[in-house]
Amino acid sequence: MRPWWRDAVLYQVYPRSLADADGDGVGDIAGITSRLDHVAALGADGVWLSPFYPSPWADGGYDVADFRDVDPMLGTLADFETMVAAAHERGLRVMIDIVPNHTSQAHPWFQAALASPDAPERDLYVFRRGRGPDGSEPPTNWRSTFGGPAWTRVADGAWYLHVFAPEQPDLNWDHPRVREEFRDILRFWSDRGVDGFRIDVAYALVKDLDPLRDLVLVTGGRFEDIAANPDHPFLDRPEVHEVYRDWNRVLSAYDPPRATVAEVWLPGERRVRYTRPDELDQAFNFEFLLAPWDADAYRQVIASSLAEAAQVGTVPTWVVGNHDVVRKPSLLGLPEGTDPRAWLLADGRDPEPDTELGGARARALALLELSLPGSAYVYQGEELGLPEVADLPAEALEDPRWRGSGHTDKGRDGCRVPLPWTREGSSFGFGSNGSWLPQPSWWGEFSVEAQEADPGSTLHLYREALRLRRSFAADEVLVWDDALNRGPVVAFRRGEVLVVVNTGPDPVRLPRGEVLLASGELDGMVLPGDTAAWLRVT
Ligand code: NOJ
Repeated sequence: MRPWWRDAVLYQVYPRSLADADGDGVGDIAGITSRLDHVAALGADGVWLSPFYPSPWADGGYDVADFRDVDPMLGTLADFETMVAAAHERGLRVMIDIVPNHTSQAHPWFQAALASPDAPERDLYVFRRGRGPDGSEPPTNWRSTFGGPAWTRVADGAWYLHVFAPEQPDLNWDHPRVREEFRDILRFWSDRGVDGFRIDVAYALVKDLDPLRDLVLVTGGRFEDIAANPDHPFLDRPEVHEVYRDWNRVLSAYDPPRATVAEVWLPGERRVRYTRPDELDQAFNFEFLLAPWDADAYRQVIASSLAEAAQVGTVPTWVVGNHDVVRKPSLLGLPEGTDPRAWLLADGRDPEPDTELGGARARALALLELSLPGSAYVYQGEELGLPEVADLPAEALEDPRWRGSGHTDKGRDGCRVPLPWTREGSSFGFGSNGSWLPQPSWWGEFSVEAQEADPGSTLHLYREALRLRRSFAADEVLVWDDALNRGPVVAFRRGEVLVVVNTGPDPVRLPRGEVLLASGELDGMVLPGDTAAWLRVT
């Protein structure tokens, strides 16, 4: 039988920011349950929940203190079970985030490891002696993703590794107890009806620390890091694949097998190795997310993603946003080459984004994303065309990037601001008592309520796109339209549907056909610049 996830659309929920049922200003599990009708009406096939586990929230919950419970601020395990049942009643699947690379500092294992240098729990993490005569220098020059050294020294003089914040000590995946623990965690949630897992930094778990070696330090993201350090000591080690072969055995024992999607910031060929038939099902295709607004770039990334996925018998996943990146309607309204970090530091005012252009491009990009073979992940608020909240005041920022960078990088809070459900009222319908990140005064214009009333809204565009996509998504063939697919225009057929995306400024004449959907207003059969359309052609 064809697995359900192959052409699914998953709606990513950032639990603290969807809906607040108990009025403490923080989104919760009961809030998610109360908004499942929105997800169902959108036409998504399910939800993926970012972490909701007990946590000190040093990194938005990606610092987990107990992998088998719900943070009391967000509810209880019983609330979670109610939510899963309510989702299943609506035909929605539930995927959850699993964070196997690190725990929170508050996790009992780490607390035990800190208690004594001889504690057996020390071996569950990566403790090493420092460099220099008195060991006061970190063991290597590695930097944390959030800034500062990737090692922190404890009271007895040893150093522990944290690829992310100091509050997130890395686990030692060479230890059998760590492996057994995660098999058990996967079973714990699978037994509670969870349909699948998103695996946090899936390519970092296994490390090669013998001997410890320095890295060539580069600026930029993971792609640059890997390019400069092809034999990277903690990213994409060949041995990590054995972990996923093991998990595949655990998850295949369920009926239906529980699905997996890996977070791997890797170039295509290295990425698809995680989706070989005996490993994981899917891996996020971040090349699409990172592509500039340029037809050649899209053609290239679509063709290579499809070809690479086909090599291992799968289909790509398509993403244009998530809780870690600047929202597209803002990004696509900025002059090409703008550094988003500098732009955020200037509170989104230098340069001033062209919001109309960015919004139009983001809508066109949505029609491109949702027409491609494979699955798609829609981050909450994308269906509303939400821009980044770039001017959050410094005192509101919670992202460890802000602290770790010594206040030179505002981080990711601007894409995590609680959703607007109503035009007005307390926290725009998010809850009854404010919101943990401040919402801007203009937030209500983007609300679900405002967009319900406007047939031309982004919300209606998404609903219609998800409805129409059901007629062609299962047939995974994409055929480029040789006549139209050139210059600034990306064009291909999915069955009877012709997809045309005009990334340039000039209008383009469409061929004869029935216009099913367009991301902006058409002038007869003329597609304006920065606009996409789906046509039925026979
Ligand atoms: C990736 C997650 O998406 C991000 O939010 C988090 O900070 C890191 N992994 C560390 O867990």
